[in-house]
Amino acid sequence: MSKIGIFYSFRSTKTAKAAEKIIEAFGNDYQIDKIDADTVNEEQFLSYNKLILGVPTWFDGELPNYWDEFVPALEDLDLTGKKVAVWGMGDQVGYPENFGDAAGIMCELLSSRGAIIIGATSTDGYVFESSKALVGNKFCGLILDQENQARLSSHRIEQWVNDLKKNFK
Ligand SMILES: Cc1cc2nc3c(=O)[nH]c(=O)nc-3n(C[C@H](O)[C@H](O)[C@H](O)COP(=O)(O)O)c2cc1C
Repeated sequence: MSKIGIFYSFRSTKTAKAAEKIIEAFGNDYQIDKIDADTVNEEQFLSYNKLILGVPTWFDGELPNYWDEFVPALEDLDLTGKKVAVWGMGDQVGYPENFGDAAGIMCELLSSRGAIIIGATSTDGYVFESSKALVGNKFCGLILDQENQARLSSHRIEQWVNDLKKNFK
């Protein structure tokens, strides 16, 4: 089993908590390296073939600053064949028109660079108006809503990680 890189901002409290739960759900059979999205570089990104990215939505439908700063580098990378899973953090009550948009922006960018996006999830149980994270009738990754549905997150993470385990094979 090759190593997995999980990329998220270590300063982003809710995202970082979710990252710990995701790592825990994988269990001890997996080697998962944590990489800080605040300082990530191209070399680190390219050294993994299996990646998990934490992408909360900020600024009414935008990527957080730290991911935004890495976008120009990402736009030049060849990610052909890399398997990438994205989880987003969002607030479907506060931002129903932009729910989890940043996760969708990231999925689209990665897939335009040749990455295989894994870990799409059902929208069942969420109520929102629009989201860039939608691909067809599913989210391109996992969207967690700690503002309104915190008690659902653990179960959502467990189901998602079970799916990733199969897809990362
Ligand atoms: C100023 C601000 C803007 C936000 N904009 C959005 C948004 O457009 N869409 C969304 O789904 N969530 C939005 N959120 C909610 C955050 O994504 C959510 O609180 C998330 O858990 C933040 O994670 P973090 O603290 O790890 O960055 C916003 C939150 C703030 C404070």
